[in-house]
Formats: sequence, structure tokens, C-alpha cells
Amino acid sequence: MKGKNIIIGITGGIAAYKAAERVRLFVKDGANVRVGMTENAIRFVAPLTFEALSGNRVIRDMFGSEGASMEHITWGQESDLVIIAPATANFIAKMAHGIADDFLSTMVLAATARMLVCPSMNSRMYENPAVKDNLRILEQRGMNVMEPGEGELACHTEGPGRLPEPEDIFEQTRILLSPQDFSGLRILVTAGPTVEPIDPVRYISNRSTGKMGYALARAARRRGALVTLVSGPTTLLPPYGVIFRGIRTAEEMRQTVFDNRQGCDIVIKAAAVSDYRPKESAHKKIKKGPASILLDLVKNPDILALLGDMKKKSPCILVGFAAETEDLLDNATEKLRAKNLDMVVANDVSRDDAGFGADTNIVKLIYEDGRVEESPLMTKDEVADLILDRIKTLL
Ligand code: CTP
Repeated sequence: MKGKNIIIGITGGIAAYKAAERVRLFVKDGANVRVGMTENAIRFVAPLTFEALSGNRVIRDMFGSEGASMEHITWGQESDLVIIAPATANFIAKMAHGIADDFLSTMVLAATARMLVCPSMNSRMYENPAVKDNLRILEQRGMNVMEPGEGELACHTEGPGRLPEPEDIFEQTRILLSPQDFSGLRILVTAGPTVEPIDPVRYISNRSTGKMGYALARAARRRGALVTLVSGPTTLLPPYGVIFRGIRTAEEMRQTVFDNRQGCDIVIKAAAVSDYRPKESAHKKIKKGPASILLDLVKNPDILALLGDMKKKSPCILVGFAAETEDLLDNATEKLRAKNLDMVVANDVSRDDAGFGADTNIVKLIYEDGRVEESPLMTKDEVADLILDRIKTLL
């Protein structure tokens, strides 16, 4: 968001309290945020909160001392995006019918920037045909309307009408401001570890946290792809806007990957799959016994190799990862060849600043034609964009 000018318009609904966290998220990510409020919004949260968080004056009154005379015109024309959140039924109606009777509604009417509208209200109000019609009008005029969430509302009823969480509005904004160069493409990403049960309380797994795979899924979604993420257990929240399929074992991952593989243009296998699983998983907890015991392990299917075989019949770009602690280049190149990949992303997981759990990564991209490209140390989000940039050249 560095260098982006974002206007956040807050109207008078109880969800106005969530706007503080959202402003903080945008500012933290480098955006210049200016906040406009309606008189009713001020009944819920004080402008001072947003002035402190954004470092900019909050404007609410067209004729008040806080605004220069032309800011109702300039704000919406100088910014990259105007976000109205929460947008009340009343404000949505004013937008749909061109009513400009305060600073925020006038600024919206004069705006040339893209617009993101986040309705938030009681579910009966949200489902009222008048509100539905008004939202349709906004969409027909090219505005982006974000579906409200469902659940318990502040008015103690249940249903649609909840303002989406600040992180989701932030992510939707990232999508709107990103180049949509993967639009129309379907991408399947796997992430995280698999876990192979020994008995009801123990399992074999690995140190994968899923960060790299989740960063790839998020970046692909931002860039317009339709993304399915198949993930082993992690502590991460599924990225906004992706189809999420949670699995535990390698066998479940194989099944889920093949259920979702059809029609995909790109498959990226960032998951760390257990190569072996216990031959039998005990139904009851194994009790402590002799000084040593043996665990009988059998090999799991190599999902990536199976996908590589399938590529001949149903082509797609297939990208694998290689987690290595020695002979990085040779081992990764061998995996590329053996599994029929278009590209392999090799990382040295013995480094502290790369591989499992780190927020940064340093990778070697190895292509089918033998080319090797080394990245500098980057955040996993940056590495994800680099990988997608390179995949684009292979399409
Ligand atoms: N992979 C897979 N199924 C497996 C094992 C690995 O799909 N049973 C995929 C991983 O998702 C990754 C790539 O194969 O994209 C390489 O995984 P890695 O663990 O680095 O190597 P392995 O092929 O398992 O070989 P080794 O453990 O001997 O290094």
C-alpha cells in the first residue's frame, strides 16, 4: 500500500467501531489514509481516534473549519480508492440517488476514484428490496460492493449484515489495487505439513508452517486468479477469497488435490508431505512398554510425481518445491526431472532466515530448460509474487 491514497468514509452504524482497526492496518502498510465521517458516525466513534491513527484531519462538515473549501471535490479525485465502511442503508440510498447533503455524500458524488462499498446493517434491512435495488444500482455503475458477513449482529439477531472484518476489507482493497494479470486462471496451491497418525494422540509430521503456500495463494488471489488452497493443519487463517480445503494426511491431500485438479491452469505444490506414514494407526493410545519399540512405516504416494505423470494427458504448469539441507541445486534439479515439473523452487531449509517458519525466504528457481535464477532474501509475500511473475512467462 506504500504510496497509495485511501479515503475511508464512515457512516452512522454500530460497526463504525471496527473502522479504527482498519485505519491502523492501512497506515501500517504504508498507505496515506484520510477519513471522512457523517454526523451520525460521530455519535459512535470520536473523530480524534481516526486523527490519531491516520495522522490526518478528519472531515465531517462541508462548511466547518476542519476542511479547506474544495476538499469535498479534491479528496475523491486525488485518491486511489474510496472505501465506505460501514455503509448504512441510508447512505447507500443517498449514493444510489445522487443525494449530496453532507461532506461525505458530496465527496462520493464528485469522486473519480474507484469505490468500495461495505454494507452493514440489520439483516431485515439488508434484505429489504429497496436496499437490494440500491446496491444493484451501485454495482451497475461500476462500484464494488462487498458482501456482508453472516452471524450474530449487534441488534441481537442473526443473519447477513455484519461488516466484514478489517483484514478482509484490507485484502479486498489489495485485490482492487493489484494488477489482475492472473484473471481467468485457476490455480491450485498446496501448503503446510501433513500429519500421519500413530495412535489417537500421536502423529508424525514436519516443521512446515504453511507460510510460503499461504503467501502464494494470497498473491494469486490478489492478482485475479481463482485459487483453491489445499492445506495441512497450520495456525494460519485461510486467505481471504480463496477456496479452502483443509486436510490432515498425505492420502487426504492426494484425494483432495485430484478432486480439484480438473480445469486448473497452474498447480503449485508448496506443501511438505510426509514421505512415510505408520503402517497401522492404533485405535487406542499405545501404552508405555519396553525400553525401545519399532514403528513400521510405509511409503506415502508422491502426489507431485502423480501430477507430473498426468500432465501428459491434461497439461498445466506444474511447480514443485524442494526443501533441502545439502546439494541444493543437484537435488532440486533431480526432483524437477523425476517429477516432470516446469519449475522447482529450491530452498535451503537449514538457514534461519529461510524455509520453515521464517517470514523471509531465499530461493533458487530452476526451470525445465536448465536455467537457474537466485532470489535475494525477500519476504515470503515478495517471493510469492516473484514466483508468479516467472510462472506467467511459462504460460
Ligand atoms: N511431494 C509430494 N508428495 C510426497 C512428497 C513430496 O507431492 N509424498 C512434493 C512436495 O509438495 C514438494 C516436492 O514434492 O513440492 C518435493 O518435496 P521434498 O519433501 O522436498 O522432496 P521429496 O520428493 O519428498 O524427496 P526427499 O524427501 O527425498 O528430499
